[in-house]
Amino acid sequence: MTSKTLFDTVRAGRYELRNRLVMAPMTRSRADNEGVPGPLVAEYYAQRASAGLIISEGIYPSAMGKGYVRTPGLHTDAQVEAWKKVTAAVHARGGLIFAQIMHAGRISDPSLLPGQALPVAPSAVKPEGATYTDEGMKPHVTPRALEKAEIRAVVGEYAEATRRALAAGFDGVEFHAASGYLPMQFLSGGSNRRDDEYGGSAENRARFTVEALDAMIAVAGADRVGIKISPEMAFNDISDANPAETYATLVQLIGNKGLAYLHVTPYGKSTDYHALLKPLFKGTYLAGAGLDQDKATQLVASGKADAAVFGTLFVSNPDLPQRFLAGAPLNAADSSTFYTPGAKGYIDYPVLEAAAA
Ligand SMILES: Cc1cc2nc3c(=O)[nH]c(=O)nc-3n(C[C@H](O)[C@H](O)[C@H](O)COP(=O)(O)O)c2cc1C
Repeated sequence: MTSKTLFDTVRAGRYELRNRLVMAPMTRSRADNEGVPGPLVAEYYAQRASAGLIISEGIYPSAMGKGYVRTPGLHTDAQVEAWKKVTAAVHARGGLIFAQIMHAGRISDPSLLPGQALPVAPSAVKPEGATYTDEGMKPHVTPRALEKAEIRAVVGEYAEATRRALAAGFDGVEFHAASGYLPMQFLSGGSNRRDDEYGGSAENRARFTVEALDAMIAVAGADRVGIKISPEMAFNDISDANPAETYATLVQLIGNKGLAYLHVTPYGKSTDYHALLKPLFKGTYLAGAGLDQDKATQLVASGKADAAVFGTLFVSNPDLPQRFLAGAPLNAADSSTFYTPGAKGYIDYPVLEAAAA
């Protein structure tokens, strides 16, 4: 087997990616209060179309899934119409873009939800910490535990959002099971205290993810559905007694479904998650978090991953593949404009030609 570079093509489900540099899903908060992506969003993604694959920012599948101010949704016709412009702009530059479907669960706030509702979660366990709202930082609230019939409804929302994503021209969808949002709240023992079939054993805690994935697969076909997980990420007050067991169990359950890819951003030092999980997954394996060109080259050359996912570097370097190829210097990202409205720090990072001029 000859070793691969970041610039070799790779298959991900239905698609042939033109390189192995994937743009990570990143919330940028440039939507309006109705969750409609704003006029700059198409330009932002189109600028980054030379990635092998773009994974969109987290998009909520229903009004109850919204987690942050000015984030976009995928449950109204107006949202679908706006996303059509984004996907068309990416396709016009020869790019591929998947929609990341993100339900925030307990990491939301009544000020963001219909009728000032309490956020929902597997169990009524309040996360430590606070969330940013337009009224300032607010401590997290105690969520309301979903009833079993409601879990089925939320699974249905993932299917409906998948249908809308395809109608909006997305090439596929990514199920966001990372970063302490709703699916990870089910996966993790600290936030999942249920005593029904959705809680307890690792298999039971994985049930919500498996059911939601199956619902998305029924709409899009497995070869247009990916999943992101972040073992041992402690963000959003997530904890689990045995994450290696939890994620090995999950990946065993989903590993033979023919998914487009498994996207893993590992945290914690005790387990080599790429070594543990890649052999359990039949399909393309994406690795991310904290990568630079050297680390990514190593991961792909050694076969530990099939492609490398870059977040922050794609924020500040719209032409990241060209820069890596040329060995050119990289722009530094300005974190103060990650989530602020407007063009600054969003569509104004220079590409190489512009930097040279
Ligand atoms: C501004 C910003 C927003 C992010 N939003 C999301 C998101 O919506 N969904 C998600 O899965 N991860 C999100 N992430 C995490 C990234 O996808 C990625 O896993 C993380 O940044 C680590 O990769 P990096 O070291 O290359 O930046 C976000 C990261 C950043 C910097």
